[in-house]
Amino acid sequence: MPKIFVTRRIPGSAFEKLKEVGEVVISPNDRPITLEELIVGVRDADALLCILTDHIDGKVMDQAPNLKVISNYAVGFDNVDVTAATEHGIVVANTPSDEVSEAVAEFTWTLMLTLSRRVIEGDEFGRKGAYRGWEPDLFLGRNVYGKTLGVIGLGRIGTMVSRRAKGFAMKVLYNKRERDERAEQELGIQFADLDTLLAESDFVTLHVPLTDETRHMIAEPQLSKMKQSAYLVNTARGGIVDEHALVAALKSGKIAGAALDVHENEPEMNPELLLMENVILTPHIASATVEVREKMTEQAVDTIIKTLKGEKPENLVNPEVLPARRPIAP
Ligand code: GLV
Ligand code: GLV
Repeated sequence: MPKIFVTRRIPGSAFEKLKEVGEVVISPNDRPITLEELIVGVRDADALLCILTDHIDGKVMDQAPNLKVISNYAVGFDNVDVTAATEHGIVVANTPSDEVSEAVAEFTWTLMLTLSRRVIEGDEFGRKGAYRGWEPDLFLGRNVYGKTLGVIGLGRIGTMVSRRAKGFAMKVLYNKRERDERAEQELGIQFADLDTLLAESDFVTLHVPLTDETRHMIAEPQLSKMKQSAYLVNTARGGIVDEHALVAALKSGKIAGAALDVHENEPEMNPELLLMENVILTPHIASATVEVREKMTEQAVDTIIKTLKGEKPENLVNPEVLPARRPIAP
């Protein structure tokens, strides 16, 4: 029977189906797995179900001679060395879906509204008993209505974020490697080069994957092009923003505020950002809904079942592996 190693217990009823296709070993600890535990776990595994905090690199794969599939329980797969997986003949798949994209888009909007209307500060003020009565200038924020939204990356999530802007009568500028005229027509949005988008947007939101190209895509030169009244929102990956430069930009008032669900050195949150009132920091929860986890579990499980049957999984991220994938024992 094939062995399936799972690095962290995941929610969702579909998980039980794994037991029908193999012997399932789940890391017993309710914390991120250590490298040593990971290596022991993959040593004789045919399939790996891992989460986004696990770094699955070529060295880990070298220790896993039977591994046929890495099913990454996330949309982003920057934690897996896909090139190395292909070289090892290992299939890699992720868990993109409308459900997860809608959830991340909702959360992006939650952060934009919460930031511009100072919801967290107001809540903290009330809880500490500081509210003494209505005041004309208590926690003045800024309207979202009618403003300009800059969407960097127009994949599934960026598209869903843009679609919601209509309800707030926002002008939407987007930036993407290739211009997408169909999306422009359908969503009523406009292409802008990055500099123009940064200079004209009241809210800048990031929806690109983390790659060598996008690492520190938002650093000092980009932040200094933004409006002083603008807010930056990141629900993509922490490494896209140079946090050191962001701290400096916020300190000097170059931008008005930021909301980050993802962080450069997770699980650490930047100690300087933690002290700033015009910053919201959440613990990587943009996709954390019951509906999404159920869907992700279905997909991650389905990837393993299909691969172990010798079929092609949906959401394959390295199709180039197929001609040379490791054979499945009969
Ligand atoms: C969450 O960050 C994901 O990539 O699914
Ligand atoms: C605010 O509460 C208002 O009535 O204007």
